Amino acid sequence: MYILDEEGKDLLATVKEFCEKEVKEQCKAYDESGEWPKDINDKACEMGLNALEVPEEYGGLGLSKNTYAALYEEMSKADAGLFTTMSASNLAMKPLLIAGRKDQIQRAADLLLGGGYGAFCLTEPMAGSDASNNKTVAVKDGDDYIINGRKCFITNGGIADFYIVTAMTDKTKGVKGMSAFLVEKGTKGLSSGNEENKMGIRTSNTTDVIFEDMRVPASAMIGAEGTGFKTCMETLDITRALMGIGATGIMQRCVDEAVAYSKQRITFGQPIGKFQAIQFMIADMEIKTETARQMSLHALKLQELGLPYSKESAIAKCYAGDMAVKVALDAIQILGGYGYSREYPVEKLLRDAKIFQLYEGTNQIQRVVISRSVMGKF
Ligand code: CAA
Repeated sequence: MYILDEEGKDLLATVKEFCEKEVKEQCKAYDESGEWPKDINDKACEMGLNALEVPEEYGGLGLSKNTYAALYEEMSKADAGLFTTMSASNLAMKPLLIAGRKDQIQRAADLLLGGGYGAFCLTEPMAGSDASNNKTVAVKDGDDYIINGRKCFITNGGIADFYIVTAMTDKTKGVKGMSAFLVEKGTKGLSSGNEENKMGIRTSNTTDVIFEDMRVPASAMIGAEGTGFKTCMETLDITRALMGIGATGIMQRCVDEAVAYSKQRITFGQPIGKFQAIQFMIADMEIKTETARQMSLHALKLQELGLPYSKESAIAKCYAGDMAVKVALDAIQILGGYGYSREYPVEKLLRDAKIFQLYEGTNQIQRVVISRSVMGKF
């Protein structure tokens, strides 16, 4: 449960109505085809859902983390692909907010507020969990850098208006030789590859992003040379808590679908919801859902208060991702054969849930972050 002020409640009611009337059912066809639902995303952008985390001083709504978490959960409940598209744009804002200049932040904010998208380009074919192993290079040439390389599994890769790109500016320095750049759509040498044909979140756009002699001014660098890895790690420390919220949205939908079904499905002369076996399954699903939500909100609260949150964000993401898969499997079990059928929504929820164990750092990486925080790095 979210504790919201009046403004938050109004916003939530608006987003809920949009998700119920214009996303939930409509996304089924897009999930089937794998086509990116431009019409739905355009409408979401009109409502400002792609720019929820833009600070007030840059033209955003200045929402509390608690409030935008409630809105993100609602999106994920309707369609985790929509959640992914919208939250990835905000992910791309984060390195700028952490280390960027005011003019860079304003430019990205304006692009989002104008209905655009952002993409965070850290991952490469040989640098997923091992993010520091970037092969993309940025070579200084006068007042410019020339960037060559290839990123993969980039959310919004084919639709973004701005890209946060990491590249090695000095390979001899290891992680301290990685820098980050703000690159805009249309830059010569920037292109995207084919869209991934994914298992879940099929309504989000995921592509390779390719740089071929892409020339950018030195002023495109975010923060100082060699700070790109640190900025990206700090970014993910923040955003992982929100991935917990995304997973919670899926879990809540699983609970809702299972409850509705168990009240109308009759076996042995009564609704299956009258059987304690089903009641206890639903209670366990609810325990996981509420725990994931509160852990994510706790991590977000720590962020708001300026207290350490790296471990708590990782716990939120890891727990919520793992539980989303379990809860989706339970929802399928309650619906029985119908749960396994594409006629009903729960098999999509399982496919969508799986990504929360993978993106923004696999749950094995979250355990690395958590154990290092508890035990230290030795
Ligand atoms: N904050 C600040 N600095 C940090 C940091 C953090 N959270 N984590 C590491 N650093 C710093 C360290 O302090 C260290 O600096 P010093 O040498 O000065 O001490 C430096 O970075 C290197 O740190 P490590 O030795 O710990 O680095 P590592 O190579 O062992 O990697 C890791 C650590 C946690 C495994 C990291 O590589 C990681 O998080 N990997 C997962 C990457 C990831 O989450 N990718 C997701 C991509 S985004 C996405 O999925 C979105 C999408 O579009 C789908």
